[in-house]
Amino acid sequence: MPAAAAAEGFHRLRGSAPEGVWSAPGRVNLIGEHTDYNGGLALPIALPQRTYAAVRLRDDGHLRVSSDVAGGDVVDVAVADITPDLPGGWASYVAGVWWAVHRSGQDVPGADVHLVSDVPVGAGLSSSAALECCVAASLSDLLGLGLLEHDDGRARLAAWCQEAENVIAGAPTGGMDQAISMRAIEAHAALLDCRSGGVEQVPFDLTARALALLVVDTRAEHALVDGQYAARRRSCERAAASLGVATLRDVPVTGLDDALARLGDAVTRARVRHVVTEIDRVTRCVTALRAGDVDEVGRLFVASHTSLRDDYEVSCRELDLAVDTALDQGALGARMTGGGFGGSAIALVRSDDVERVSAAVTEAFNRAGLREPGCFAVTAGPAAGRDA
Ligand code: GLA
Repeated sequence: MPAAAAAEGFHRLRGSAPEGVWSAPGRVNLIGEHTDYNGGLALPIALPQRTYAAVRLRDDGHLRVSSDVAGGDVVDVAVADITPDLPGGWASYVAGVWWAVHRSGQDVPGADVHLVSDVPVGAGLSSSAALECCVAASLSDLLGLGLLEHDDGRARLAAWCQEAENVIAGAPTGGMDQAISMRAIEAHAALLDCRSGGVEQVPFDLTARALALLVVDTRAEHALVDGQYAARRRSCERAAASLGVATLRDVPVTGLDDALARLGDAVTRARVRHVVTEIDRVTRCVTALRAGDVDEVGRLFVASHTSLRDDYEVSCRELDLAVDTALDQGALGARMTGGGFGGSAIALVRSDDVERVSAAVTEAFNRAGLREPGCFAVTAGPAAGRDA
């Protein structure tokens, strides 16, 4: 049990038991990619894979963070000294949460934190949001804030985690990952409205339909801090400004042609076309899921991938190969998931086909001389919470 492993690791390094263990999930997004920072819609699920934090508060104002991955190394920073440069590296995702909660006016003490995770790192499955959200959950309980007890409180915790990532970790991400990690419900996908902050839970239980959601971690380099993500975001913001709207959410799909005619530059037109049609696909996907029309869900996955590849230009060779191979092998639909430029793809497949499709994708990667991908089926898990 990873929760027990986190507590044991804490005990080994600190010589005493933690006050508790909290965990939070990674995610895959079913559809609605690069829409969150445009005030749009997204439809993620929480993964069964989670990050676990064993935590004990300290009264000397120091945050001391260790993880099973980092061996016995402990990163030590005074809460008052946390900045985008300090402590830097992976510990900044933890320190950023302390910083954001402190900045909101809460009196935040120091803490010892030990982390254990089974969310693959660098796979585009939101290991960073899982990290932020499990420590935010621990702070809510240990400071007696009670925010885990209702969805409004969870939305507040998610906002702190996003602030941590944007300001202290330096990744200008849009908030989908933290929202699902904090607000998921098991066996449901969450329809996130990133303009209103609202969430609608949509039943998502593929096993009842003898289907499975296969994740292919392409193991291709993926970094959201490397400028491409920020460039896409800037180009959407500029397009919204020149169209005279607050965000691209305010461009209805029925008004897309008119909006495109008002944009001079072909690349910007392609970016806007992706965002506006993708938001529409989310709505259609929710309708199809509610109606049990899984063929339509599959078609929408494929249309989303094509749009991300050709109009938004955030796919890559490995993602395209995973998607094309899964479709060749009879998947109902497949698409890249998350920010892109590497990371993971998802495929909607019949339960009986999981192994065959996984083997075919692995074989295709081998033949192309690429690193061996990681293939695993997932179900929709629960949100962040206390484990022990
Ligand atoms: C990353 C970001 C999210 C979102 C996706 C693309 O996962 O963290 O905020 O923008 O990319 O949909």
